[in-house]
Amino acid sequence: MNQATLHQLKVFEAAARHGSFTRAAEELFLTQPTVSMQIKQLTKSVGLPLFEQVGKRLYLTEAGRELFATCRQIFDNIAQFEMKVADLKGLKQGQLRLAVITTAKYFIPRLLGPFCQLYPGIDISLQVTNHERILERMMNNMDDLYIMSQVPEHVDVNCQPFLDNPLVVFAPVNHPLAKEKNIPIQRLTNEPFIMREPGSGTRRAVQNLLDEHGVTVKVKLELGSNEAIKQAIAGGLGISVLSRHTLLSDASEFSILDVQYFPVKRAWYIVYPAGKQLSIVARTYYEYLLDAAQKFVASTQQTVASEYVQVE
Ligand code: PGA
Repeated sequence: MNQATLHQLKVFEAAARHGSFTRAAEELFLTQPTVSMQIKQLTKSVGLPLFEQVGKRLYLTEAGRELFATCRQIFDNIAQFEMKVADLKGLKQGQLRLAVITTAKYFIPRLLGPFCQLYPGIDISLQVTNHERILERMMNNMDDLYIMSQVPEHVDVNCQPFLDNPLVVFAPVNHPLAKEKNIPIQRLTNEPFIMREPGSGTRRAVQNLLDEHGVTVKVKLELGSNEAIKQAIAGGLGISVLSRHTLLSDASEFSILDVQYFPVKRAWYIVYPAGKQLSIVARTYYEYLLDAAQKFVASTQQTVASEYVQVE
């Protein structure tokens, strides 16, 4: 490996991440033959093939996978070093990689604006996905911090709750049950139900509650997005259970049914794998979020309260 250069590792890392020389070339503003040449030279230094082609797809060999993991560590360390140097110069600089569950997208982007103004040197990549995918990302150490509602059971993590995330029963605004109080949970069996996709934390929480009370709902539609579910509810296709936070901007089309055992009380947690050394930038965001969440709640409580007055 003495012959290998940092540039070659960078090219290899991009090609491995994309599974494509062409896309690596696009990302790095190189030509495709340059990428092939760099990888050829790196392969020679390693002494084993790094990729294999099956049909049209490119796969990493075992040596390729090992090198990919090593590259990630090297580039993480370099990024950490750059952040430390910036910090020594009195600047907060570098990349923050966040992955958040779908319901947090109603809240986290609102807080990113002020954070970016406070720290203009920090670039952010935000992935929004469901609970299961977040777990996958965490296992592969792909991000700095995760925001989720269910703390993983079989992974050792550091976690800190920072805000409530109650699940409520959403129905169209003129639904016949909208004016009823303390609706027995069994009544849900009569309603066409819209469910999130398998792998969703919301779905799991709803299913647990229904199982606990021996209730089976008629799932009429399964959708992989809270927004799509809201559109389906507004269109009269059924009712569903969603985080109350998904209602932040358009309360007038929905009613929240007063069903027994709801709201399901949950919280958002900021999570990272135990033993992970948070970068300076990640630590800065972590502290900012805990503080800003409290302020955000205080400032939106009034708006949210007035939205609920309209729909109840
Ligand atoms: P989900 O996560 O997007 O996977 O449903 C939301 C939650 O767990 O609250």
